[in-house]
Amino acid sequence: MKEAINPPKSSTPKAFLLSLILLSLFYLIFLSLQPKNSNSRNRNITINDLRIRPGYTSYDAYINHQLHKTTDPKLRKIWTSRDWDRKIRVFAQFFSQLKQEKLLSNSSKALCVGARMGQEVEALKRVGVNDSIGLDLVPYPPIVIKGDFHHQPFDDKTFDFEFSNVFDHALYPDKFVGEIERTLKPSGICVLHVAVFRRPDKYSANDLYSIEPLKKLFNGSDLIRSRKVDGFGLDTEVVFRKRK
Ligand SMILES: C[S@@+](CC[C@H](N)C(=O)[O-])C[C@H]1O[C@@H](n2cnc3c(N)ncnc32)[C@H](O)[C@@H]1O
Repeated sequence: MKEAINPPKSSTPKAFLLSLILLSLFYLIFLSLQPKNSNSRNRNITINDLRIRPGYTSYDAYINHQLHKTTDPKLRKIWTSRDWDRKIRVFAQFFSQLKQEKLLSNSSKALCVGARMGQEVEALKRVGVNDSIGLDLVPYPPIVIKGDFHHQPFDDKTFDFEFSNVFDHALYPDKFVGEIERTLKPSGICVLHVAVFRRPDKYSANDLYSIEPLKKLFNGSDLIRSRKVDGFGLDTEVVFRKRK
């Protein structure tokens, strides 16, 4: 008789287990339905996908490290002889395509940031963009003038077009981008060649793992497009237009 009124001993743990499984399932479904570009996720991408390399004890140490390669006389000879035309031809192809897309024109006032010997400047001139200049820590007159891209020596709203393949050399990526946005005219175009799928060299000051940090840094511009390219160890071209 007593046995008849007692509930079966195993029912409570079973029900508990079942509700636990159901709850976990609901939680997993909830997670998978979250939008992939929610703000909190983007914040994580920005932090995780751009890392400043440790090891620079001062700003001078960073500058001296950058100068070490750029001032090497043997390398400078190679860059201005054997490498000269080969690089200009490749840059000219990139710029011709940008002209076809109406992102660059013969009347554009153009700046190449981190231009070293200025092959990209020479390429711009060869495709008809005559008002072009380069900026680098080491000048190469008359096509490359001396300056730090963290503090560009130009007035606000000077250029229609800026190109750079040295984003990875920026110790302060926010200043690098801030200076480009400051010196571009409203509706001006910035084209960056960056490494996302490959690792840049030992002179890089940061590592980029996606273009999400760039989208965050260019907060006064709109992303026009990005595509894969093969540009001297850099694999991705991103194009931004400064807002009016
Ligand atoms: C990998 S080289 C690229 C040179 C050139 N764009 C090319 O493709 O031939 C990087 C260049 O960035 C320059 N650079 C590094 N830090 C810089 C800074 N803070 N301001 C200006 N130029 C810098 C270096 O001097 C060097 O010439």
